Amino acid sequence: MESRYLGLVLALLLNTAVLSHGGITSSYVRKPEASVDMPLDAFPSPPGYNAPEQFCFSLFNICKIPGSHNSGDHIGSSVIVSWVTPEKPGPKYLTYWEAHHSNHKHKAHAMITFYRYYNYTSGFIHHATIKNLQYDTHYFYEIGSGKSARQFSFTTPPKVGLDVPCTFGVIGWRWDSWARFVEKSIAYQPWIWTAGNHEIDFAPEIGESVPFKPYMYRYHVPYKASESTSPLWYSIKRASAHIIVLSSYSAYGTYTPQYNWLQQEFTKVNRSETPWLIVLLHSPWYNSDSYH
Ligand SMILES: *[C@@H]1O[C@H](CO)[C@@H](O)[C@H](O)[C@H]1NC(C)=O
Ligand SMILES: *[C@@H]1O[C@H](CO)[C@@H](O)[C@H](O)[C@H]1NC(C)=O
Repeated sequence: MESRYLGLVLALLLNTAVLSHGGITSSYVRKPEASVDMPLDAFPSPPGYNAPEQFCFSLFNICKIPGSHNSGDHIGSSVIVSWVTPEKPGPKYLTYWEAHHSNHKHKAHAMITFYRYYNYTSGFIHHATIKNLQYDTHYFYEIGSGKSARQFSFTTPPKVGLDVPCTFGVIGWRWDSWARFVEKSIAYQPWIWTAGNHEIDFAPEIGESVPFKPYMYRYHVPYKASESTSPLWYSIKRASAHIIVLSSYSAYGTYTPQYNWLQQEFTKVNRSETPWLIVLLHSPWYNSDSYH
């Protein structure tokens, strides 16, 4: 099972980090300037007026569909698809269909937002939730029309359960140019987002005193489905894994909302159904280093 191998690799890496005192093993020193290997203009916007870009997926197999009052443990497969348009908002919906039923097209409506950060104004950020998807099924989705239309596809994961294989990866990121760069991956498969220190963006000296502002505008997660009060900590189940996402840069001491939520969340883990428990956080909550 691939996820077991990943767990093993991570465990090995952690062990190596603890046991080895290798010192400097390479003469390579990263330059402080931006790398010429990857200039920002290597990731231009797609052609066409107001063409949607920076597609990404949030998640699958959430425990409860957002907005539903069903208290079932996990009742379906849903995704949140997000994209950005540079000039004006819209289209306000995306069209999606099962690969084998291309004459049965459905629409999912998007909520639209944008934010300002100092002298930067984001494009129009769209978030559309597609609910009640079949498990293990190939879907297409399309946004925009004419020359600006863009089409992608994805396959939903299998139903949650014991011995259901699934592959996970670990990746890091930054805003517009980064979002264009990774679109090739995140438009086709779901990512599970967790905030790190680079996402805090707390800069009161330039009037930006709301932590995690760009991150929270851009990346929507179904945190309410796991009874969390903040998008910075939440959980999902996927295949044979129960995945808990935490925030290292939000309060986590005893009795804080995050701490209380985590205590509750642990009681919901059912090892017979999801033998894998994966906890994602940027830096360990308890460690002696002031950064990571
Ligand atoms: C925003 O401010 C920074 C720092 O003052 C400056 O380097 C940059 O050119 C400005 N960008 C715009 C779009 O005004
Ligand atoms: C745990 O999962 C198993 C397998 O799906 C199920 O039979 C059992 O009822 C679950 N236990 C609880 C406490 O929900």
